[in-house]
Amino acid sequence: DAVEMGGHAHYMLKEIREQPDTVLNACRGRLVREEGSSRLGGLNMTARQLRRVRRVVFAACGTSWHAALVGEYLIERLAHLPVEVEYASEFRYRNAPLDDRTLVFVLSQSGETADTLGALREAKRRGQPTLAIVNTVGSTIAREADGGVYLHAGLEVGVASTKAFSAQVAVLTLLALHLGRLRGLSFSEGTAVLKALEAVPSLIGEALKAEPAIEAAAERVAQARSVLYLGRDIHFPVALEGALKLKEISYIHAEGYPTAEMKHGPIALIDVHTPSVFVAPRGPLHAKTLSNIEEVRARRGPVVSVGLADDDELTRLSDHVLPIPDAPDVVQPLLAVVPLQLLAYHVARIKGCDIDKPRNLAKSVTVE
Ligand code: G6P
Repeated sequence: DAVEMGGHAHYMLKEIREQPDTVLNACRGRLVREEGSSRLGGLNMTARQLRRVRRVVFAACGTSWHAALVGEYLIERLAHLPVEVEYASEFRYRNAPLDDRTLVFVLSQSGETADTLGALREAKRRGQPTLAIVNTVGSTIAREADGGVYLHAGLEVGVASTKAFSAQVAVLTLLALHLGRLRGLSFSEGTAVLKALEAVPSLIGEALKAEPAIEAAAERVAQARSVLYLGRDIHFPVALEGALKLKEISYIHAEGYPTAEMKHGPIALIDVHTPSVFVAPRGPLHAKTLSNIEEVRARRGPVVSVGLADDDELTRLSDHVLPIPDAPDVVQPLLAVVPLQLLAYHVARIKGCDIDKPRNLAKSVTVE
């Protein structure tokens, strides 16, 4: 194991640190600069077929479900198509309306999750062409889907998924770009997305350098019994994923919420012992996020923020800032998730938890 972990203390840490390469590999050969678009050959669909699509459905579980939620924001923004994100376990037993202009995708790192496979089979049974976004080559889902996209993230050993999330979000960005370029998205807008994606690996590298600041925040979070994770817009699913990581490996209760929705319940939990983690890079809604942070502070809640190092206002309002570099907002989730993965990792390490094999969890859940 020591050799395979390449000097990292745990597989999870190794996999978090691999993410610059993960994104690079997910994008390799798929960027079409001369068209300001992307190429996803495995979809086995012509431009004409893709132009007919009126709706996209994603079905997945766990972290893959969170990646799909990021995909919803991306596809809405770049391709202006309605997207529904379903828990695979719910989708398979519902009578969700489907038709020949709906594109059904399942997302799975392992390609073996029972509920996700069940969702795929249900869509097929109803005559729907099915597509899969999968990491494990030759897995059951990969074999049974009509087409799809591999993540090329390499083996993921840590039970709590990290690099597969980033690979999924990168592939979903390429999908949103591709669908967008077949619709209203201009060449220059498409090119801007490509450029932003190409910069991501080195920006993740920068985000990884913030580990000392993250360890300091982890000391505080490790004392908590419950932690809130808050994010707006495309960062809402990142908040959900941050909360899931903490729950999975440190056994501290955590909840992800859309930042403004905090006022409708979770704010009642806030006290001096309950930290809030804000995903707060700069963006059009930043001023509103800052005022939500003030609301937490007014109730003496500790504040940890993921944001820009030069954001003085955020620094003033936060007990800890986990810095990420600035980037166009479509790629920000790929940066913002990194400090949240590391925060969960260090909290679990401080608490002495079994990080790569958390209790009660399995890497791939092959029962319903
Ligand atoms: C398990 C793992 C999670 C993973 C989920 C879905 O719960 O512990 O990390 O996100 O299954 O797995 P999949 O392989 O379908 O992405």
